[in-house]
Amino acid sequence: MLPNVESFYDPSTGTVSHIVYECEGSPSAIIDPVLDYDIVSCRISTKSLERMIRFIERCRLSVEWVLDTHVHADHLSGAAELKRRIGGRTGIGQGLLDVQRIFGVTSEAGDYVGYDHLFEPDEAFRIGNLHARAIATPGHTLSDSAYLVGDALFAGDSLFMPELGSARCDFPGGDAQALYESIGRLLGLPDSTRLFVCHDYPQAGQPARVFTTIGEQRRHNIHLRDGVTESEFVALRTTRDQSLRAPALMSIVLPVNLRGGGLAE
Ligand SMILES: [Fe+2]
Repeated sequence: MLPNVESFYDPSTGTVSHIVYECEGSPSAIIDPVLDYDIVSCRISTKSLERMIRFIERCRLSVEWVLDTHVHADHLSGAAELKRRIGGRTGIGQGLLDVQRIFGVTSEAGDYVGYDHLFEPDEAFRIGNLHARAIATPGHTLSDSAYLVGDALFAGDSLFMPELGSARCDFPGGDAQALYESIGRLLGLPDSTRLFVCHDYPQAGQPARVFTTIGEQRRHNIHLRDGVTESEFVALRTTRDQSLRAPALMSIVLPVNLRGGGLAE
């Protein structure tokens, strides 16, 4: 099954959001929508969401799911606002609960969820006629989940384009060894699987790249390709993480994203 994928790039955070659907007029799922936040004016806007909504309306899509691949630390999740505007159920991996516990996020009743659905590892679901599966990918965070829809894999931050490598593992709950195992699960998919990334950081004047294939990753990923051992990957990842600065918006977006994204009501 070869679903259609429309991707939307947000240059201010380097985030790629996606809409996956069978055909015009069909149900769809939205992955990693962005709610814009301007750090200079401290203003939230819905410019990125409006682009997606215009496409959904133009193609007469219905929205069944609004999915996050993980608790993002670099942009506000648009999941709650998009659900409010155009419907659908919000979802994320069940590792969200572990991240919430680490950060002390609870409701009066105990666990705070903030999403309509938490996907179990390997949980199957449908988007209209499309068959989909959540694949737990802890490592970058404990909440990470990739989504496989037909031949299209939405990999979240676990793998970027081959020249950019893999996600950092130094956030609370992050684990380079776990990421090695998670990426191994993704690289076990057929080589022809289309892999849609959550971020790209192109050079000035260059377009963002939004997808590659599992085969390309196995041959060329600079951090983890065929032949790289677990200890080599963990050493590389750990060394690199020591040099990284915190994302610019992290302290602003994390409290919101831990609760399912901004502007819900
Ligand atoms: Fe991330």
